[in-house]
Amino acid sequence: MNKAYEKLTKCYKSVKKKIDFKPKIALVLGSGLGDYAKEIKVEAALDYKDIEGFPVSTVPGHKGRFIFGYVKEVPVVAMQGRVHYYEGYHMEDVVLPIRLMKKMGAEVLFLTNAAGGINEKFHAGDLMLIKDQISSFVPSPLIGPNMDKLGTRFPDMSDIYDKELRSLIKKTAKKLDIPLQKGVYIQLTGPAYESPAEVRMCRLLGADAVGMSTACEAVAANHMGMKICGISCISNLACGMTDQPLSHEEVQEAADKAAPMFKKLVTECIGAMGKSLE
Ligand code: HPA
Repeated sequence: MNKAYEKLTKCYKSVKKKIDFKPKIALVLGSGLGDYAKEIKVEAALDYKDIEGFPVSTVPGHKGRFIFGYVKEVPVVAMQGRVHYYEGYHMEDVVLPIRLMKKMGAEVLFLTNAAGGINEKFHAGDLMLIKDQISSFVPSPLIGPNMDKLGTRFPDMSDIYDKELRSLIKKTAKKLDIPLQKGVYIQLTGPAYESPAEVRMCRLLGADAVGMSTACEAVAANHMGMKICGISCISNLACGMTDQPLSHEEVQEAADKAAPMFKKLVTECIGAMGKSLE
C-alpha cells in the first residue's frame, strides 16, 4: 500500500478506537478562533498526541486537538490548532488531519485563518471570504504516488471554494450585518512575514490576502471532493503597507479582537449549512 495512505489509515483506526462520532462539517480554527470550542456543544475531544502517527503542532497559542460536537445541532469536528508547513513537516503530514476528517465522514471543509491584507482597500479587523487561492509557493500535498482511494491524479481546481457555500456565507453575513470582503488568498511558506517587495509581488499576482496555511489544505480537500469554504480574518495589513513592523503577538491580538464577530459568522454559517446538507 502507498506509505502515506498507510499512515492515514493507521491514524484513522487510532481515532476510531477512541471516538464514535460522525461529523458533517470539518472546521479548521485559525488564529483568533482558538477558543471557538466554547461555541461547540462538545461531545468529545482528542489530543493530536494521542493519535498514533499524527504530526503534532509546536506554535505557541495553538492547542493541538480535535473537538467533536454540535454547532446549532450540526455535527462538526473542529481542529483546534493546525499543522503548518513551516514547522518542518512534510506537506503530506500538513494535510493529514484534513484527510482524516474526511475519513471520519465530513463532507464540508470550513477553513479559517488570520492573514495579512494585501488589497489596499482592506483594514485590520476585516473578514474576507476566500473566493480563490494561489498556492504555487508551497509544494503540492498531492506530489507523490496518487492515493487513488482519495481522489484522481489530476484534480480539477476550477471551483475550489464552493459557489453555493460562498453564496450562503455572503447571505449570512448580510443577515448579521457583518461586513465581508471577498478576495484571493495566497499561501507562502513563512515563518518570516513577507518583505515589502514580496507583498508587492503578491498583489501583482492578484492576491488580496497572504498567509501561511489554508491553500494546501484546500488542495488536499479538493482532491477528495469535499465542499470547501474559507474565511480569513485580516489581522494586519501586510509588511510595507504601514510603517508598523509585524509581530506574532500583535497579529494574534488583532485576530482576538475580531474574534467575536468572526465566531458569530462561523456559527450562523454552520447552522445554515446544516440545513442545506439535510
Ligand atoms: N503574512 C503572513 N501570514 C500572516 C500575516 C501576514 O501578514 N498575518 C497573519 N498571518
